Amino acid sequence: MLFFDFLKRFYYAAVSSPTPRKRDDAIRIGLLGASSIAPLAIILPALSHPEVIVAAVAARDPERARQYAEKYSIPIVHNTYQELLSDPAIDAVYIALPNSLHFEWALRSIQARKHVLLEKPSCSNADEARSLFRHPLVTAPNAPVLLEAFHYQFHPAWQAFLYQINHLPWGATVEHVYSQQYLPKGCLEMDDIRFHYGLSGGCLMDLATYPLSCVRQVLGRGEHLNPIEALHRPLPVASDGYQPEPQIDAAIKATYATDSDKTAEIRGDLLFGGGFSFLPAAWSHSLPSFRWPKTEARTGEMLLNGLNDEVRHFVRRKITLWNHLIPTVYHRIDICDTHTLRRGEEVVKTWDVMEYAKAYNWPAGDVRAQTYQEWWTTWRCQLEEFVNRIKGRAGSGVWIDGEESIAQMEAIDDTYAQAGLLTRPTSAFEVAIDRDPGTNSLRPAYYYKLSIESK
Ligand SMILES: NC(=O)c1ccc[n+]([C@@H]2O[C@H](COP(=O)([O-])OP(=O)(O)OC[C@H]3O[C@@H](n4cnc5c(N)ncnc54)[C@H](OP(=O)(O)O)[C@@H]3O)[C@@H](O)[C@H]2O)c1
Repeated sequence: MLFFDFLKRFYYAAVSSPTPRKRDDAIRIGLLGASSIAPLAIILPALSHPEVIVAAVAARDPERARQYAEKYSIPIVHNTYQELLSDPAIDAVYIALPNSLHFEWALRSIQARKHVLLEKPSCSNADEARSLFRHPLVTAPNAPVLLEAFHYQFHPAWQAFLYQINHLPWGATVEHVYSQQYLPKGCLEMDDIRFHYGLSGGCLMDLATYPLSCVRQVLGRGEHLNPIEALHRPLPVASDGYQPEPQIDAAIKATYATDSDKTAEIRGDLLFGGGFSFLPAAWSHSLPSFRWPKTEARTGEMLLNGLNDEVRHFVRRKITLWNHLIPTVYHRIDICDTHTLRRGEEVVKTWDVMEYAKAYNWPAGDVRAQTYQEWWTTWRCQLEEFVNRIKGRAGSGVWIDGEESIAQMEAIDDTYAQAGLLTRPTSAFEVAIDRDPGTNSLRPAYYYKLSIESK
């Protein structure tokens, strides 16, 4: 039965989603860039959404855009990103460009009055994030919707995990959070955008931005993460002796403390390999390894009761979400209570009580369970809420607002500083607001900082 459920979810999510008839008022989305992630993150999810049509794509090379459009049945091809933004038939854009271009193209899109689904990380650094999310064009009352695509948060599995953390028994609170994400070595080419400092690459900007986001979600926005230690592994030297970019972290590990003495640890690796102790070290290092994405929260130890004058009963809870990244395929929430009987400092007895949970949909009876489907991927759940927001509907209630995206970028900058690495470079692009002399209305004016500075 479990295996049948898995096959059903996998079939609908990845092989053949139901394709309902599109509504007349469907949102027409344009893709900026013929990216690798768009099929998973937007093209496939849009097929099963009656209110979304992926209507256009633009790439730097129009011929590539044409081939991409043909492959994914996208009706319109634009020759440039700006041309797509000028198309009045497009309501929203999906931006999956290198991180260094997120700020510029998000602002240009908002200025063109397009709703924006913006890939993570939202910007190159916190300065850019503040400039973007607090920009008058973005904060205006009727501004287009702007969402950083932290898709994992929209899935019921993540929300069920957070529910457990926010409804702890015994008055317990979380004291430590750990999150990890690894990509097996060999999945990325060495010329990938993630390995270029100028394109705002790095592991913390990409894969490890999830663990960082996960621990921040668990601790809550009120808790500021102060990095204690951040260690990175640089890119390997190529076999031809080529020296890779020194500011790029291929892997990162960081520990934090909050002002209220909670602690957190994150780990991420874009080139994860090794760990095969039965092989010679040189062979082992060259082989890819796998580890599940995982987020774990541990409470402090709580005194349950004194059994008698001498023996006291303590308990500590650990909640683990296995596979926060692709929970549709498989995930599991483990709730482990470790009980300990102590006489003074001596441990008399200790035992674990385990419970397991899964959440492929919202709880039975919840009105959201009627809309959501068990086979929806995190990206499909995210698209549902993006559309709900555009349409002015309440939706599931899960959302990532601009201040959250800013706080995430600040945590990235702080971690890079602790690791002794440079903050990713600020875009040369900016939008200033001035007044149209004819109508006296506010209008954006683009300029490039570099050209201004060189005047
Ligand atoms: N949400 C997720 O699960 C997830 C997963 C992977 C990636 N991402 C994010 O999505 C974004 C794109 O990642 P990806 O893996 O899809 O990358 P990708 O396949 O390399 O796509 C990036 C696109 O950016 C365009 N581009 C514009 N200027 C470029 C330049 N100077 N160098 C290289 N490309 C340039 C290219 O578009 P043209 O077609 O115009 O040439 C390319 O299609 C990143 O921000 C990444 O962090 C998110």
